[in-house]
Amino acid sequence: MTAEYNVHGDIAVITLSNPPVNGLGHATRLGIANGLSRANADAAVKAIVITGAGKAFSGGADIKEFGTPKALQEPNLLSVILAIEESSKPVVAAVHSVAMGGGLELALGCHYRVAAPGCNVALPEVKLGLIPGAGGTQRLPRVLGVEVALNMIVSGEPVKSEQLAGLPGQKLFDKLAASAETLMDEALAMAREKADLRPLPLVRNLPCKHPLGDAYFQFARNMVKGMSKNFPAPGKCVDAVEAATKKKFAEGMLAEREIFINLMWTPECRALRHLFVAERAASKIPDVADDTPQRAIKSVAVIGAGTMGGGISMNFLNAGIPVKILEMKQEALDKGVGIIRKNYEAQVKKGKLKQDKYDQRMALLSTTLNYDDLKDADLVIEAVFEEMGVKEKVFKELDRVMKPGAILASNTSTLDVNKIASFTQRPQDVVGMHFFSPANVMKLLEVVRGEKTAKDVLATVMAIGKKIKKTAVVSGVCDGFIGNRMIEQYSRQAGFLLDEGCTPQQVDKAIEKFGFAMGPFRMGDLAGNDIGWAIRKRRAQERPNMLYSRTADKLCELGRFGQKTGAGWYDYQNGKRDAIPSKLVDDMIVEHRKSLGIEPRKISDDEIVQRLVYALVNEAAHILAEGIASRASDIDMVYLTGYGFPIHRGGPMHYADQVGLFNVVQSMKRFQQNPRDDAKFWEPAPLLAKLAAEGKTFSPAA
Ligand code: NAI
Repeated sequence: MTAEYNVHGDIAVITLSNPPVNGLGHATRLGIANGLSRANADAAVKAIVITGAGKAFSGGADIKEFGTPKALQEPNLLSVILAIEESSKPVVAAVHSVAMGGGLELALGCHYRVAAPGCNVALPEVKLGLIPGAGGTQRLPRVLGVEVALNMIVSGEPVKSEQLAGLPGQKLFDKLAASAETLMDEALAMAREKADLRPLPLVRNLPCKHPLGDAYFQFARNMVKGMSKNFPAPGKCVDAVEAATKKKFAEGMLAEREIFINLMWTPECRALRHLFVAERAASKIPDVADDTPQRAIKSVAVIGAGTMGGGISMNFLNAGIPVKILEMKQEALDKGVGIIRKNYEAQVKKGKLKQDKYDQRMALLSTTLNYDDLKDADLVIEAVFEEMGVKEKVFKELDRVMKPGAILASNTSTLDVNKIASFTQRPQDVVGMHFFSPANVMKLLEVVRGEKTAKDVLATVMAIGKKIKKTAVVSGVCDGFIGNRMIEQYSRQAGFLLDEGCTPQQVDKAIEKFGFAMGPFRMGDLAGNDIGWAIRKRRAQERPNMLYSRTADKLCELGRFGQKTGAGWYDYQNGKRDAIPSKLVDDMIVEHRKSLGIEPRKISDDEIVQRLVYALVNEAAHILAEGIASRASDIDMVYLTGYGFPIHRGGPMHYADQVGLFNVVQSMKRFQQNPRDDAKFWEPAPLLAKLAAEGKTFSPAA
């Protein structure tokens, strides 16, 4: 049983006890229901208190049960809440730390609620593509008023209990306890005080109206529409709360239920639930136990104060960890520090950062030209030029000066981390920490596991990733790791599409309509087309048989590197970022197509999207089979947090699972007939072919 039952004098106490957050899985629900029956049957008990053990009242539904029959197995949450309402003895919720989702809905079913200050109160279902499904949309407006409740339901964001308790006319909390320590005593006192009072108050009986009626809901609907382009749930939150104001309670509950169930099966909800599970899974490394001891990281050194070094440093400064940056020349240091300062100052100007916080962060930053000054750092991250020779010099120096046990990380985006490790006498301490640009903004951190990287180094780096608020995903060593290895195939397809008849704007538009933040050509112009050019040149030597479209090289030969040169795949007006279709580029593409002897054809948006996305999927299947990624959902996390893959599609692997791998393979077979798509490109990866043939999916729970 995951709820305990105790009696304190004449008060029964039911304590949810399902670590870590007292999720309301079946066993917990059963525990509450049994506790209620027992208390009601015991003549010596006058009232009941429900609370949560440990660090939460309750974090809500058990996500593992979502979409499974277990979630509905009796007693389901609705039945438990009904049993509380129907208890003949008063039930007091003693709420603390976390009362979210089903946890808050449970409390709303109680006759009285006492809250500890500092408790995070929320209905976060919208973040999973849902609306609250156990009366939250019907009861919260009755105790907080329509507007406050709707804001909470549509945003899913937590609000502190003391803030809610201070709202005029609120009926959510009957009392705010003096402190978390006194909460239980105060809840027991309230239970005693109310023991004989009848009738028992029920939230469902409170009135629910908005003075402006329809006009308010129209306004709310417009607001929500603008904010939630690809997701149906926020709009449905408005519908459900409106139902609370217009229907009788029981009918409002039915309306909520119907909306909830319909949303549960939408692709957007599946994608968000997948993301939720994937995010948690990514932090686990199959052969590294959760309790692996970690190394203490109290100070960090960064080598190189360029684009990446500066952004990387800011992450640690933001987390209160001192950073020392090393460069070859004082001017480079001054420039790098100047950019960090400017970034922070812009945040201060916008009111996003307080002056004292800015001062604190800058005070944690120091610089040096001398390796010996780094020796005490616990973690050093190298972000110098992407050349093996330069990396070799740096790592030999680091090996010489760093204290034993320090972690030596490289931010390389393509080079062999095993080779980099071999420049030191301590390859077990070497790891890749691949940040994405801008490094202080982008969520993704690829943690590159070398052949010899020690487990405690991995555990430490994963934990530090969390501390600096990144989504850390482990990748094995290969050219490009998970993300960039896949993007190579995506870029190749984008090039072939031009050769076969598309314009850059047609390709960008199609994939942007699918939901990508930016199409491949606008992206190239932003990042700099010269970067891809340099990588292609290197790869052309390593893999001379790989077929590429030559258009991107031709573009670079014209010096059209993108926004930074004022021209790329598109034209740009002085200082502006708007991409204007370029006649010159269109002519260049036509010319090149002619030279290849390809008759252009009209390519549909569907084909564009499929070819770009399935190019990612097929390479990902190789990556998965080779063990470079440990699970399909890790690949999704990489694409969702680092490459602008649309969240509502759940990542390339999840998307392919939803389309059906059989269908994916069928399309790939069709693409094998295309003139530029050598049959080899679209040869399904063995893992993909196997799963498709067996009717299976990449992710087990898809
Ligand atoms: P950058 O050219 O902006 O900065 C490199 C800095 O390193 C320069 O300030 C340079 O003076 C300094 N440097 C070079 N050799 C040095 C040495 N021996 N000792 C100390 N400092 C030295 O380059 P960026 O873009 O910051 O890239 C750095 C690393 O990060 C590369 O390995 C790159 O592949 C990787 N990376 C870059 C990304 C990007 O979008 N720019 C994304 C992810 C990784």
